[in-house]
Amino acid sequence: MSSNTQKPVLIIGGSGVVGSRAAKTLRRLQPELPITLGVRDVGKAQSLARELGGAEAMTINLERQDLGLPESAAFSAVVVLLKDDSLNSMKYAQAKGVPYVSFSDFVFDIGPAVARYIQHPTRSPVLLLGHFLGGTVTLATLHFAREFRRVEAIEISAVFDEDDVGGPAARGDTERVTKAVPNPLLLQDGKFRWAQGDDATREFVGVDGTKWRGRAYPLLDVVSLAAATDARTVRLDFAVREAASSPSGQGVSHEVIIELTGEREDGTTGRVRHEITDADVHSGLSARGVALAVERLLGLAGGPPVAPGLHHPEGLLSPAYVVERLKDFGARIRRASPQLEG
Ligand SMILES: NC(=O)c1ccc[n+]([C@@H]2O[C@H](COP(=O)([O-])OP(=O)(O)OC[C@H]3O[C@@H](n4cnc5c(N)ncnc54)[C@H](OP(=O)(O)O)[C@@H]3O)[C@@H](O)[C@H]2O)c1
Repeated sequence: MSSNTQKPVLIIGGSGVVGSRAAKTLRRLQPELPITLGVRDVGKAQSLARELGGAEAMTINLERQDLGLPESAAFSAVVVLLKDDSLNSMKYAQAKGVPYVSFSDFVFDIGPAVARYIQHPTRSPVLLLGHFLGGTVTLATLHFAREFRRVEAIEISAVFDEDDVGGPAARGDTERVTKAVPNPLLLQDGKFRWAQGDDATREFVGVDGTKWRGRAYPLLDVVSLAAATDARTVRLDFAVREAASSPSGQGVSHEVIIELTGEREDGTTGRVRHEITDADVHSGLSARGVALAVERLLGLAGGPPVAPGLHHPEGLLSPAYVVERLKDFGARIRRASPQLEG
């Protein structure tokens, strides 16, 4: 359980679209846990800090190895909710021997952090959490996969509203992917491929029956799910709903469809479909994933504090626990099977 003597969790980017939601979720889960919002504009973050209680805002300078923080500063974890090209935030966490969470690294981005971890493997637990919706989708998928003895294929689809783009940091990352990295990673018939042309798109049926053509996206879920199951096909495709076609009066919403094919315990082959919908911007679920991960890393839920190591969310969190929490937080999760198409 948390105590007043616990050092604060440093959430760099804690005042952003994801960060403010992550901080609020963490506060809801851990009323006593001190939180420091690490930002450039402290003025903007201070009202959130007051709203949270037990929180303060501090200026962060990612250009410096000490992050521009006083020498006396001490944290229980460093969570970075923006792309830190310098990795100074990771160096800082390793120097202090505290858990580190990276949240904005795509599958092609993780080399530098992995190398830094390999260099100092015993200093900190390092969580690579650049997964779709803060790891919650990979964990939900693994939960749903439990009805199979062997999983053959995992196809994840998502529909976002055009307006649901996150803050400036998220928009910058999307632009980075679009410009600099043309091909998404898939596992296709047992082989990892950087998909091109038609292979990078896939048709799927949305929650309300709408047909979508999605495009694969280079998030870490593909490698996590490929490593955690024996699936020969794993992919994740996004479609964007134009503002004009959003269901009227419903505001922003998004949906995730998880389709699994495999062999059941009784030896029959089957395909199931699960749907997750949530009424908040997509960053809401992402933020909940961050909060659950921080709680776990610190040993405030699900087991003792996590030891130094290189981690993905599925190695830390119980899939069943995460699905229960998501329901508590208001996400709607529905099993819609058998799925006949395909
Ligand atoms: N893994 C996932 O599930 C997932 C999901 C959604 C988004 N993301 C990623 O999460 C990140 C945040 O997205 P967002 O929509 O929350 O963006 P955002 O609203 O622009 O938030 C960015 C936050 O970072 C702070 N910040 C920006 N540059 C900084 C710097 N150089 N030093 C210190 N603080 C800085 C901002 O405060 P100041 O302006 O005051 O500095 C703000 O608090 C993006 O990288 C996005 O790609 C990941």
